[in-house]
Amino acid sequence: MSELATQAGLTPDELEARIAILRGAGYEIELVPHLGYRMSGVPDRLIADDLSGLLSRNGAPLKIAREILVFEETGSTNDVAARLARAGTPEGLVVFAERQTAGRGRLGRRWDSAARKGLWFSLLLRPALSMAGWSRLTTWAALGVARGLEEVLPGCRAAIKWPNDVYLSGRKAVGILIESAADSSGNFAIVGIGVNVNQTAADFPEELAGRATSLRLAAGGEEVPPLDRQEVATALLRHLDTLYDRLDEEEGDGFSSLVAEAETRSCLLGQWVEIAGPAEAFHGIAEGLEPDGSLRVRREDGTAVRISGGEVTVANWQNRA
Ligand code: BTN
Repeated sequence: MSELATQAGLTPDELEARIAILRGAGYEIELVPHLGYRMSGVPDRLIADDLSGLLSRNGAPLKIAREILVFEETGSTNDVAARLARAGTPEGLVVFAERQTAGRGRLGRRWDSAARKGLWFSLLLRPALSMAGWSRLTTWAALGVARGLEEVLPGCRAAIKWPNDVYLSGRKAVGILIESAADSSGNFAIVGIGVNVNQTAADFPEELAGRATSLRLAAGGEEVPPLDRQEVATALLRHLDTLYDRLDEEEGDGFSSLVAEAETRSCLLGQWVEIAGPAEAFHGIAEGLEPDGSLRVRREDGTAVRISGGEVTVANWQNRA
């Protein structure tokens, strides 16, 4: 043990004291006679320093995760990130919460954010895009998340339900809420991402039964061990970071290639859908994505409509008027 302490630049007592701190934080560390210590389990907790360490590239942080904060509980991580944005925080802040008491979804819905079951986090971004180009964040976020999920769930296909829900095995696993604002600190976007990671079927509230899933359920259910949430978080952030620079590129591998990939992942294309408009709902076939990421729907009279927001649901063709 004294050799190990020397290597770490500590006295044996200091080494033991640090091991005790880690054990207190939930790390399972065994003493292996004549060899040293062995870490046999990590706590199911998000730890900002661990996340930053896992994410740094040669010591440099990712552009979108320059600073990471983890709260045990908060109302909504989107609100925390927006407050910090207004106080002048630069781009690249990520706010996680183990539990949200007022997690919200799109269209004013509630987002169920049970403690330690998923990843509830928000990114503060200040993209160098014209305000009109900010809608690109929708495609970017969905695609980065879909790629990240496939990395941690080999063999699974992550589909995108336009605009930016991510589905596994036909059920929603991830919801994304993007809010943008401008104030004296400049323009900013808060990209809130909710990922159901380790819920079992019984963990979902009744109203979500049959519609929501988690990564663990998609990977095989209760038979498979819970996933390491830090590993999932870092995979998603890494993919989002890789794609971030392509948002303002027009040529080659630029934004148009993100749209093309999002289109191949779409679970709406070719489907008869209902679009809930501000006045009345209308129907059509979801035909494809436009270069800006909006959805093109072909109505029964042959006209094409470009949808840039709102709620799209798969409808029953037999029941059309
Ligand atoms: C939706 O599908 O309607 C979007 C859900 C977005 C949920 C996330 S969880 C982290 C962030 N904080 C919130 O209050 N909402 C987003």
